[in-house]
Amino acid sequence: MLKPNKLANNNFLSSLDLSTDEVFHILDLAINFKNKKISVDLNNKVLGLIFDKSSTRTRVSFQVAMSRLGGTTIDLNPTTSQIGRGEPIKDTARVLSRYCDVIAIRTFEHSNLEEYAKWSTKPVINALTDLEHPCQALADFLTIYEEFLDFKDVVLTFIGDGNNVANSLILCGALLGVEVRIACPKGYEPDALIIKRANEIYKDKNLLKITDDPYKAVSGANVLYTDVWSSMGEENFKEKKDKDFKGFTIDKELLGNASKNAIVLHCLPAYRSKEITDEVIEGERSRIFDQAENRLHVQQALLSCLL
Ligand code: CP
Ligand code: NVA
Repeated sequence: MLKPNKLANNNFLSSLDLSTDEVFHILDLAINFKNKKISVDLNNKVLGLIFDKSSTRTRVSFQVAMSRLGGTTIDLNPTTSQIGRGEPIKDTARVLSRYCDVIAIRTFEHSNLEEYAKWSTKPVINALTDLEHPCQALADFLTIYEEFLDFKDVVLTFIGDGNNVANSLILCGALLGVEVRIACPKGYEPDALIIKRANEIYKDKNLLKITDDPYKAVSGANVLYTDVWSSMGEENFKEKKDKDFKGFTIDKELLGNASKNAIVLHCLPAYRSKEITDEVIEGERSRIFDQAENRLHVQQALLSCLL
């Protein structure tokens, strides 16, 4: 029976904390958890959750994952804990390390997550920062794998803001050798360092393409992906971004220009009629709710490799 391997890296802060083999191992484990072909007992281990931003899927999938594995979670609300008072991260991290066995953190600056990891003696997981959302990318590639049973001929086109979700898709896509295309308005490209790291992994095979033409980007693509145009923390830019992203909506017409077998993904939550139409979310090519479910199976796989 398949058994979880320990990851070489103690933390999961970035998609790049995993090797290609480790990504495949986590996906494999996740499929086995999903099919109830594996059972792991985390024996009362405790996951601490810190959410400086809102969350439904990440919070609940981590809680249910821990519960299914025989462990428990503590959800630290920054406003009712001393975190909101501004207790230094280095103090919180050292204290929580003495109570918890693993900590998942959703916060703003990626450097704050790195500060937690620096001071924590227990594994730290990125539950989303402004820079990356690596747990999401694992669930996304699991959903893609379930559809195509291979990554060989996958062309993944992300249409929208070059944000945290796009960054992690790029890095995880590079590890898996998947062609990734990003269609975004000029000025909203993904992080330059992320692009550089991905190209190094691809070894200049030119499998990462950035364009401001959504129609060009979806031609021949079999996965269309989008996310909100304004992420959490960007509320003040909403009006401007809504204007700048005009023409970047995944609608029936854009989907019609992709491959016939194309599926549609969205990490959720969505603004229907902005980055994606209601019709496409509810349409037959959407795998969006399978993708959300897969967060749970991937979380179980990840936790069982870290603990
Ligand atoms: N996709 C995702 O991370 O959703 P939540 O913000 O609800 O956790
Ligand atoms: N890019 C979005 C993802 C939400 C899951 C955000 O950061 O708000």
